[in-house]
Amino acid sequence: MKGIILAGGAGSRLFPLTLVASKQLQPVYDKPMVYYPLTTLIENGIREICLISTPQDIPRFQQLLGDGHRWGLRIDYREQPKPEGIAQAFLVAESFIGSDPVTLILGDNIFYGGDVFHKAFKDFASGAVIFGYRVHDPSRYGVVEFDGQGKAVSIEEKPTAPKSCYAVPGLYLFDNEVVSIAKALKPSPRGELEITDVNMEYLRRGTLRVFPLSRGFAWLDAGTSTSLHEASAYVQTVEKRSGMKIGCPEEAAFRQGFLTLVGLQTEVARLPRCEYRDYLEEVLAEAQRAG
Ligand code: G1P
Repeated sequence: MKGIILAGGAGSRLFPLTLVASKQLQPVYDKPMVYYPLTTLIENGIREICLISTPQDIPRFQQLLGDGHRWGLRIDYREQPKPEGIAQAFLVAESFIGSDPVTLILGDNIFYGGDVFHKAFKDFASGAVIFGYRVHDPSRYGVVEFDGQGKAVSIEEKPTAPKSCYAVPGLYLFDNEVVSIAKALKPSPRGELEITDVNMEYLRRGTLRVFPLSRGFAWLDAGTSTSLHEASAYVQTVEKRSGMKIGCPEEAAFRQGFLTLVGLQTEVARLPRCEYRDYLEEVLAEAQRAG
């Protein structure tokens, strides 16, 4: 399965922070925001990744992430000239996707905990898989409604009167049909190709599965100044308490076997002295002790 990180948009809700650096490059506590969704992909075994962003911002992402080979990945870049909806990603990245299934993650979504994703990725065969997460303010999101048997019956984008408290987070798994489905979409009243319309088409075909995310799971979005600050505070609290980092691509690549011990050592040696390097040195020392 291939992976797409959608890191476009004007970031207008974060102005003036986003006047010179895009939203997904802003710090969430101790690392750039895009490290978190990138790590989620790596942790689920995805190593061929396409990052979609604006023509102005792509050079900055390239500076940060390169072509991915340092971390045992392949990272391609594609331009989304205008933000015309999440589902446009499948048109922009059509040549990258080829004939493979694909997962899409939004560049401002931060996930932590649980093993629902691992199961979903491992068991994925066809159709679409999305997730449902209980939130206080569902009308800000895509909202999924379940029947008494826990089967999804409707999905609505930012409904004024939500039919449930379950929002659909920005991580989606699709078979290759997604490309033709995206091609047939019409822009919504807000002028966007909606990811919710893609999910509704899979629902109509009877091939959509919705996995609920349990209470222990954290899903944060970092698209406004308040939620950005809250996400930073959350990451700091968990990292300080557990001594483990959230959203560390080098560590995830090493644990997935994308990077060898020697590869990780080389990576660590490239870093200046900083807390991030100290952490990776601990990961290395622990791995060396374990043999
Ligand atoms: C988008 C999607 C929405 C989804 C959300 C997750 O919303 O349209 O369905 O629940 O991402 O972050 P937007 O980024 O347009 O607010």
